[in-house]
Amino acid sequence: MSETEARNADPRHSDAEYDLEASVEGVDVGPVETNTPPIQGRPRRTLDGRLTLLDIERPGNPDVFEARVRDDALAIVSRYPEGQSRSALLPMLHLVQSEQGYVSPDGIAFCADVLGLTKAQVAAVATFYTMYKRKPTGEYLVSVCTNTLCGLLGGDEIYQTLSELLGIGMNETAGEAGQPGSITLEHAECLAACDYAPVVTVNYEFFDNQTPESAADLVGQLQSGGRPLPTRGAPLCSFKEISRQIAGFVDIRDEARTAAATGAPTEAGVELARARGMHAPGFGHGDGSTAAAAESRAAANTGTRSQTSAHDEPLETSASNPDAGSPTGGQSERIEKGE
Ligand code: FES
Repeated sequence: MSETEARNADPRHSDAEYDLEASVEGVDVGPVETNTPPIQGRPRRTLDGRLTLLDIERPGNPDVFEARVRDDALAIVSRYPEGQSRSALLPMLHLVQSEQGYVSPDGIAFCADVLGLTKAQVAAVATFYTMYKRKPTGEYLVSVCTNTLCGLLGGDEIYQTLSELLGIGMNETAGEAGQPGSITLEHAECLAACDYAPVVTVNYEFFDNQTPESAADLVGQLQSGGRPLPTRGAPLCSFKEISRQIAGFVDIRDEARTAAATGAPTEAGVELARARGMHAPGFGHGDGSTAAAAESRAAANTGTRSQTSAHDEPLETSASNPDAGSPTGGQSERIEKGE
């Protein structure tokens, strides 16, 4: 049996798991990402196990959630200007993920229903971003950075160690998804904490300067019901809970509100700039008064175009109006002048 056939025969990849494309009714989504030949009677899968075939029998039920979820969805929509409710889609997807642990066809149908979008439009967004999960996720999402810096400093070994320890690969879950101690593993491409490389996040909270041993100890604690404190940031919560926070519902735990978000390495550049009196063009020095002024300007922003610095000068592209000009002359003008 080939590796592909073994994967499709694996009961962990049952038909209960389905791809988001499954919710798209009557829409040709074009060529699918797969190296997997179709197997009679079963949807095809990508190499990481996702289903790829449209399943018109699973159109998604927009009424799957309790009334309170629709109320939450409407609260999210109310944050956006009238007529621009579709901008609420990203937090809405996190909201449905906070209910089900992933973005299901029902979640897709729900978002489409609330926002007046087609399910194809919602699915197109949900399948673009890696933070939207297509399969039920563990209580903890453990992300190992394997991008260049972390990879060179041990991230690859950490991922390999955890993969072997948990017996799972990319986007797979050890334990029953959603149950206590269950862990979904993924590798990530730069978790924006290169100054603490190699880093691991658990439900997006940072565990800095990891080693294969410390990471193995970390997942061991998670599996046995512990919640070790992140190096910085809020204490851990479940994947569903953090998804709700990302949807915009604030973490009300006192210890979360007072947790330090950054450490000295992160602020080293800012401190250096401050000591030397350097600042970004168009912005203040970062002291309280100018920050307040900047916030005031932001609050008063009515959407009127205004430049805050030379860097914000509109770029001239092939589609630009050549008659519009620019304060310093467009690129083509500068080229003609030999500048
Ligand atoms: S390379 Fe790992 S956090 Fe940036």
